[in-house]
Amino acid sequence: MDNVFSSRHPLVAHKLTKLRDKTTKPKKFRELVREIAALLTYEATADLALRPLETETPLAPASGYELREKIGLVPILRAGLGMVEGVWELMPSAEVWHIGLYRDERTLRPVEYYNKLPIAPTVSVCLILDPMLATGGSAVATADILKRWGVERIKFVGLIAAPEGIAAMQQAHPDIPIHVAAVDERLNENGYILPGLGDAGDRQFGTA
Ligand code: PRP
Ligand code: URA
Repeated sequence: MDNVFSSRHPLVAHKLTKLRDKTTKPKKFRELVREIAALLTYEATADLALRPLETETPLAPASGYELREKIGLVPILRAGLGMVEGVWELMPSAEVWHIGLYRDERTLRPVEYYNKLPIAPTVSVCLILDPMLATGGSAVATADILKRWGVERIKFVGLIAAPEGIAAMQQAHPDIPIHVAAVDERLNENGYILPGLGDAGDRQFGTA
């Protein structure tokens, strides 16, 4: 699958297995979401552009680099929220722009309820953060919003993807790379990923 990066890192595999476990409680679940999000973002940002930067160590001048692009994190409410803290640990100056979407339980189509993006884009690279890429409706809608906003480069960082969600994203937004911890088997009749991890929002916020 072009443009789909399923992590092969042993730490990711180890933590994802604990995350899937139905006995994992919300506190531990949130910790794992944070940690896996950071590990995946480390992999997903390997191609960020740099510019040279001269600095001085206590001993001598040194040539180095700084990030050239302004980065925005775009968590999809609510489940994407739990990924922000982990990613922020790597990029503390990234801006965070929330997009509120929920899936209509009957149609499985995303319904937008929160979007406070200013008129002009303030960042050049956006990482869409959402643990689950199921039908792909929420990710496609968010990418539509960000492209209309004028963002030059977008990446999707999630925890688990279904083949159906990947296909939807690749059809609508073939330019957006998808970084996940795992690609699972399929969706069930209610649009949940199998084997997945259940409802990512409910498991983080203790609302199951
Ligand atoms: C979940 C998940 C994604 C969406 C994925 O959110 O966090 O945003 O479903 O499904 P899709 O790929 O079929 O669009 P949900 O709608 O349950 O809202 P919540 O995060 O507020 O619980
Ligand atoms: N949203 C979730 O939280 N889990 C799924 O498996 C699918 C959508």
